[in-house]
Amino acid sequence: MSGAAARQAAAAFTTVPVPLDDRAYDIFVGRGLLAEAGARIAALKARAAVIVTDANVGPLYAEPLAGALRQNGLTASIVTLPPGEATKSYARLEEVCDAILAARIERGDLVIALGGGVIGDLTGFAAAIVRRGVRFVQMPTTLLSQVDSSVGGKTGINSPHGKNLVGAFHQPSLVLADTALLDSLSLREMRAGYAEVVKYGLINDAAFFAWCEKNWRGVFAGGPERDEAVAQSCRAKAAVVVRDEREDGDRALLNLGHTFGHALERITAYDSKRLVHGEGVAIGMVLAFRFSAALGLAPVADAERVEAHLKEVGLPTRLDQVPGGCGTPDELLDAMSQDKKVSGGALTFILAKGIGQSFIAKGVEAEKVRAFLAEQLQSR
Ligand code: GLY
Repeated sequence: MSGAAARQAAAAFTTVPVPLDDRAYDIFVGRGLLAEAGARIAALKARAAVIVTDANVGPLYAEPLAGALRQNGLTASIVTLPPGEATKSYARLEEVCDAILAARIERGDLVIALGGGVIGDLTGFAAAIVRRGVRFVQMPTTLLSQVDSSVGGKTGINSPHGKNLVGAFHQPSLVLADTALLDSLSLREMRAGYAEVVKYGLINDAAFFAWCEKNWRGVFAGGPERDEAVAQSCRAKAAVVVRDEREDGDRALLNLGHTFGHALERITAYDSKRLVHGEGVAIGMVLAFRFSAALGLAPVADAERVEAHLKEVGLPTRLDQVPGGCGTPDELLDAMSQDKKVSGGALTFILAKGIGQSFIAKGVEAEKVRAFLAEQLQSR
């Protein structure tokens, strides 16, 4: 690439800074970033890198990336894991840690996560614990991971006791979100990631929600709206993470829709044929708004508007859309209680006073949640 062409390409990318003192890093967003990933990663001044990827993404992008890193003077090796949630396991963690050590990665070197949330979470956790912490780069390849899991430093694996129960906060040194990689995602995966985009509008940015209502087709079609949606989501997430990196307060707002959503994922036995995370979150966000309206906190019209938008993009919004059923109110409440501790029959939820006005509601009575769920299940 000529100097002028490189400058033009660089100008097409958006930079979102995450100003976390000595853990500060940049997120770059844009179409075609992968082509210059070698140079951007080399700028971090490492000697060696290990690329961790999965068998879907690796054959497409890992070898060209390794080649680009070598051209920029780094040694590079590739670890390819099976795709899917089962990879976030102790056994795969051991495999990745040993591969990092076998590649003689030192603390100044890099581990690169090239894949979706599973690869990002597992690789980030391995990077957090090998040699008590080595640097890592996130190269998220799904919409969900570009707008959520690659940003903010939550890393981890699943335990037989539940999802993400073993992990660490470990911020990446760089995030490269190439939005062209989303062209090959299935419509279902795009929709599921899009639920998390909408979430940022619902939390505290009504104007962004209105922008989503107007521009979602461009996001799906891969127009400039897609880059804008990813960049704005990353800005929104970065702002929350900078305020509350370790989820002592405000970061919990990012769980809007997730208490109901996680319960549905649990009830469907994490079977992605039935329900994927973003679909659970879509139904969960509608329930959070309907529940807020039922409690007299939010206008019914806002709950209807949230549902109408998610429905329009093709996401499920109602409990009766969960394939194979969603259980009884008691089963749902039980699944929720495993996610959020119930203290004295009360739960913590993210509720809303309206679109863009979400808040953390502590002490929500379990009995009110049960009655609401029973009413939702009856009214289908
Ligand atoms: N995905 C929620 C968080 O990063 O806090």
